[in-house]
Amino acid sequence: MHSLDAFAEAKLATLDARHLRRRLTPTARISPAHVQRGDRTLISFSCNDYLGLAQDPRVKAAAIAAVEQYGAGAGASRLVTGDHPLLGRLEHRLARFKGTDAALVFGSGYLANIGVIPALVGPADLVLLDELSHACMVSGARLSGARILTFAHNDMDELASLLAAERHTAARALVLTERVFSMDGDRAPLSALLAIAESYDAWTLVDDAHGLGVVTPDAAAPLELGTLSKALGGFGGYLCASAPVIELLKSRARTFVYATGLPPAAAAAALAALDILEAEPERSARPLALARRFTAALGLAPAQSAIVPIHVGEATRALALSAALVEHGMLVVAIRPPTVPEGTARLRVAFSAAHDEADVDALVQALLQVGAVGSQDLEVAGCT
Ligand SMILES: Cc1ncc(COP(=O)(O)O)c(C=O)c1O
Repeated sequence: MHSLDAFAEAKLATLDARHLRRRLTPTARISPAHVQRGDRTLISFSCNDYLGLAQDPRVKAAAIAAVEQYGAGAGASRLVTGDHPLLGRLEHRLARFKGTDAALVFGSGYLANIGVIPALVGPADLVLLDELSHACMVSGARLSGARILTFAHNDMDELASLLAAERHTAARALVLTERVFSMDGDRAPLSALLAIAESYDAWTLVDDAHGLGVVTPDAAAPLELGTLSKALGGFGGYLCASAPVIELLKSRARTFVYATGLPPAAAAAALAALDILEAEPERSARPLALARRFTAALGLAPAQSAIVPIHVGEATRALALSAALVEHGMLVVAIRPPTVPEGTARLRVAFSAAHDEADVDALVQALLQVGAVGSQDLEVAGCT
């Protein structure tokens, strides 16, 4: 066997032995809340389309019209081929929405993180990272070459002591966190974090991937980064910040300079989605309300976002429960290490404005029936 294939086979065998190999399952989204998998139609609780906009006729029409008018792709980097006016319009709109001077659109949220972080800090600097930060923030921090200090999840005392002990060693310091944590659904104590960071002249980047359109921000960071692919239902990433920061990134963020621009249709879709988000505030309130109905029914702490984890421990148990839920007509993905720490595998439940109350109640019953949560938990919580 070629050494390359032997390497891959050996790695796959290790992943199999630890139940960590990932597999793609053909699954078509057939409505905002339903998917087709083989001959089964499932209610999906595994999608980040929190407002059901990916399938909204207005969003689709905007994208289709842009494809008809401007074609399928951007053709080259915006600095090379010329800047499509729809992208400028989207940036203006995002900046207005976030209350910043300016914005810059990237090919995805992942590309935004790995472009922005290394453009702002380097080997002489510090990155302070919440331990549960998304993989792309970790990648961005590593790419920057800065010294990375990790603080315990949402532990503001530890952040303050790290800054007190280490801030003087670095020219610049950047704190990285998420407004809503992607696998836990809880929120960063952003006001407190910003106050601590600012007192040490450390900058803060908050990734709002799972917050935008779903939760009301308690504070705004100087660097507000996010994605167009979750509540906005489309594809792409962005950073909202001051005018000089955005201007600098146009020259220094490598994933902006050296990557093809976002397709005009993705910009058109995001603009249409922002129109809906602003015109229909009741839509934004729904995912959290449904998540709270769910946590109340199961006697869990009240949901803080559209995401609710059901911790089950080992990867094998998470996989078995997820498979059992499919038999009950529910798609709830098993999240395993390394996405989450060892021993904290979970079912990640994501609610959408497209679900109805009956979907939530059916999921509660299915979780009880497969044994993902015990009826004794409900008795303890006084819910039976
Ligand atoms: C917190 C967070 N940031 C960034 C991303 C990446 O965004 P995108 O899918 O647009 O690349 C994700 C998830 O996909 C995420 O959960």
